[in-house]
Amino acid sequence: MRPEVPNKKRRTMTFTVEPMHPPYAARITGIDLRQPISASQLVELKAVLAKHVVCAIGQDEPPTNEQHIAFSGLLGPLERGKSPKIAGTAERVPHPEIIDQSNMDEAGEIYDDQDRRLAYKRANRLWHTDMSFYDIRATYSALAGHIVPPSGADTEFTDMRAVWDALPASRKAGLEDLVVEHSYWHSRVLGGGPEPNAEERATRPPAHHKLVHMHAPSGRKALYLASHACGIVGWDKSKATALIEELMAFATQPQFIYAHKWRRGDVLIWDNLATMHRATPFDDRTFKRDMRRTTCRERAIAQGGSSIA
Ligand SMILES: [Fe+2]
Repeated sequence: MRPEVPNKKRRTMTFTVEPMHPPYAARITGIDLRQPISASQLVELKAVLAKHVVCAIGQDEPPTNEQHIAFSGLLGPLERGKSPKIAGTAERVPHPEIIDQSNMDEAGEIYDDQDRRLAYKRANRLWHTDMSFYDIRATYSALAGHIVPPSGADTEFTDMRAVWDALPASRKAGLEDLVVEHSYWHSRVLGGGPEPNAEERATRPPAHHKLVHMHAPSGRKALYLASHACGIVGWDKSKATALIEELMAFATQPQFIYAHKWRRGDVLIWDNLATMHRATPFDDRTFKRDMRRTTCRERAIAQGGSSIA
């Protein structure tokens, strides 16, 4: 059942916060990410993100790539990918900090039916948290809406702190001792993508993370799971799969879900350490959808030492 929290706007010193799915997810007005944000706005924004973990900031026009990078770089060290992501493809957006989440090729046209990138991106329709397949996890993602299709394509979230809180004590027992294996390729194939070749697979080996962790900004425990989760250290495959599937189903019940309906110019920021999310379907054979994402990591990584997701 959805928590009974008043859906009231409130003013901070520098902007307005309107809860969208109390007690998490909020729309912020009074900040324009096409302009430099002040130190006090940044402090307040981080405080709002700590509580709400999903925040939408609307602009009349989306920020330029440069403005997007400048803003999101204030939230933490940015992922800088090396290209190309998929063998034989080129990049539409030339900035290494920006991950192209569109259905468009380098010429700005909708992908061919046979384009491998289409299949991989449809894997984003599985519940996940960004980059859990890396040792150094993602913190904030900032996704900007440049072209929004006329229907569908909501981005859905679940608050993994609320999920942990809602688990019965009997089910929580022992979970804090578990370590989960996450693999990029697991979710890509699960989502209907082709088997990666050996060269692609080698670019992203699996990573291990605790199933339950402390979300430091809010001081609340959270489950850390994703469709990238493919095993539990020390457990046999079938037992691990059963527990992962059980917890994923629990975490994605309707009462936990906020569905973001995009407006062109929105920048949606979420905390990957406290949420899962998924893309939802739209007619990606007819309509363009141009979404661009930056992602912060828990700490800076060596240039060229990673690949993009
Ligand atoms: Fe994602």
